Amino acid sequence: MCGISAYIGNNNAVDFLIQGLSKLEYRGYDSAGITILNHENQFVTTKKQGKLVNLMEALKESKQVGYMGIGHTRWATHGVPCDENSHPHCNKNNTISLVHNGIIENYSILKEELIKDGYEFLSMTDSEVIVHLLDKYDNGNMLETINHVIPKLEGSYALCIMVASDKDCMYVVKKDSPIVLACDANASYVASDIPAILDYSKNVYFMDDYQIARVEKGKITFYDLEQNIIIKEPTFIAYDNQTAQMDGYESFMLKEIYEQPFALQETLRGRIVENKIFFKELKDLDKKVKEFQRVYIVGCGTAYHAGLSIVDIMEKDLQIPVSCTVASEFRYNDPIINQHTLAIFISQSGETADTLAALKLAKSKGATTLSIVNVLSSSIARTSDYTTYTCANLEIAVASTKAYTTQIATLLLLSKYMYQEKTNQLIDNQLLTELQEIPTILKTVIKDSDIFKNYAKKVIQYHYAFFLGRGLDFPTAMEGALKLKEISYIHASSYIAGELKHGSIALIEKTSPVIALALQPNIIKKTISNIQETIARGGDVILITTKPNKVEGTYATYYLPEVHPSLMPIVAAIPMQFIAYHASKLKGYDVDKPRNLAKSVTVE
Ligand code: M6R
Repeated sequence: MCGISAYIGNNNAVDFLIQGLSKLEYRGYDSAGITILNHENQFVTTKKQGKLVNLMEALKESKQVGYMGIGHTRWATHGVPCDENSHPHCNKNNTISLVHNGIIENYSILKEELIKDGYEFLSMTDSEVIVHLLDKYDNGNMLETINHVIPKLEGSYALCIMVASDKDCMYVVKKDSPIVLACDANASYVASDIPAILDYSKNVYFMDDYQIARVEKGKITFYDLEQNIIIKEPTFIAYDNQTAQMDGYESFMLKEIYEQPFALQETLRGRIVENKIFFKELKDLDKKVKEFQRVYIVGCGTAYHAGLSIVDIMEKDLQIPVSCTVASEFRYNDPIINQHTLAIFISQSGETADTLAALKLAKSKGATTLSIVNVLSSSIARTSDYTTYTCANLEIAVASTKAYTTQIATLLLLSKYMYQEKTNQLIDNQLLTELQEIPTILKTVIKDSDIFKNYAKKVIQYHYAFFLGRGLDFPTAMEGALKLKEISYIHASSYIAGELKHGSIALIEKTSPVIALALQPNIIKKTISNIQETIARGGDVILITTKPNKVEGTYATYYLPEVHPSLMPIVAAIPMQFIAYHASKLKGYDVDKPRNLAKSVTVE
C-alpha cells in the first residue's frame, strides 16, 4: 500500500508530485521517489529511503524540471525500505518507468521467468517484475502492451506508467487498488486519493478494475481491456481540502485527542430530535430493518474494536444475531449471507483493502451493505448501498483516536435508530440525554492528561503491559493494548478479566503493569474479584473505574465520570489514548508516524 501521484502539463511536474505525495504520505513513509521526463527527453529518477522530506532535500540539490512525471510514497511489502526498493522502477534502458500500489501475488514465478530471459533485478520488490514484463512485451504500442501484460498479473495494482517513446502521455491501469484522475486545459493529474488532486481540480474520474487510461495534457481517454473507448463522466467533489495544521499541539495525535469533544458534537449534530433518531442519508433503510435476520459488523484494527463495542447492544435492540469480525478473516470465512443480511463496514479512511474486499464479497452475496466512514467519497463509501459519515474531520496521526470514539457513537445511534424503526418504540431517554452530554464529559477527562502521564511513566519501565476488562470493557481493553503497541512498541495484551485465571494469570509477576477497567455495573463485582486475583500475584494495577468502587492494593485508581454503561467505551477511550500517547513521547518516539505502519492499509 502506497501513494501514487502523477502529472503531465504546462508546469514543472515536480511541484505537483511533491504536493501530491505530501497528501498521500499517510499511505506509507518508508521511502519516496519520482521520475521526471526532462527537457532532453530522458527519464531522471530520484528516490530516497525514509520520509518524503528526504526526497525533497535530494530534489532541492538536483533541481529537476520536466512537464511529465510520476511519484510514489512507499509502505514496504516486498523488500526492506531502502533506496533500491523504492519506486519508481525503470527498465534496463531507462525507457519505461512505473509506480505501483498493491501486491503482485505471483511475482516470484514471473521473476524466475524474466531472469531466465536475461532480465536483471535491481530491487527485491514485487513491482519490478511489471516494468520488465512491459519491456519484454513492448511492441511499440503501450496500450497493447499493457493489455498483454495485465492478464499475467495476479493480485492488486494501481499502476502509472511512462514510456520514453510516448512522451506526450502516460498510462494508468488498476485492479483492487484505488486511483483517481482529473484534467483541465493545462494539465492532467493522477493520484491514489482525492486530496492529492483537489487543490487542482474538483472534477474527478474514478476508474473501475481492468480499465486503462491514456493520460495526455488536458485529456484523458479510458479503455477497456479490448481497447474499446469507455465514456466516463467526472464526479464533482463538493468539498475542499482540509488543511492539516497542528495548531500549536506538539503532535497530530495529541491534537486529535483534544478534538474529540468537538468531533462527537459534530457526529451527533441533528441526529437526535425529541427522543427520536434521524439518519436521513440512509434513505429507505428504515423500511428494510424488519427484514434483516442477521447482522455482520466488519472492520480492521481500531474500527474492529469500535464494532465489538456495539455487538451486544445491537443484538438486544434488533433481537437477531449480530457478530463482529476482522475484515481479513470475514472475507475468507465463507460467511452465511443472503438478502436478509445486513453487513456493516467501519473504516476511518474508507480505503482499507481488507474491509473493501469484505464489502464487495457481502454485496456479491446479496447482503444489504452499510458503511460508517470518515473520509468523504472514499472507496468504501462509494461501494456501499448505504453510507453514513463520522464527522471526525481529518485524522492524520496513524493511531486512531477521534475516528474511534465517533465510530462508537455512530454505531450506537444506528443501533437505536434501527430499534426505533423496527419496533416503533421510543428510545431510552436517559441514554439519549447522556449521549448528548458526552462531549462535555470528555472535556473533563481530557483535563487529566497529566495523571495519565504518570501511569505511562510506570508502564514504560516494562517491555509488556496487561489490559483487562469484561463485557463492554473488553473492546476498550483491546483498544488500549493496540494503542500502546503501535506507538510505544511495548508489547501489550488484552484479556477478558474472567479468563485470566484459565492460563494467562501465570504471566503476572511482581510489579507487572496491569491496566484494569471496571466500568460495567452488571458485572463490576466479578471484575473486581478478577482484579484482586491479579493484585494477589503481585501485579501493579492501574484501575479505571467509577466512584465509589474501591479495590485494596491497587497501584493507582482513576475515577471516570459515571455515564450510561453503553457510553462507557467512549469515555474510557481517553485514558487508553493518553497512556499510549505519553508512553510514546516519554520513550522519544515519533507519535504520529510510528515505525512499520501507515495510516491507511490499502494492501491485503
Ligand atoms: O481506515 P480504517 O479505519 O479502515 O483503518 C483500520 C485500521 O488499519 C486502523 O484502525 C488501525 O488499526 C489504526 N492505526 C489503529 O490506531
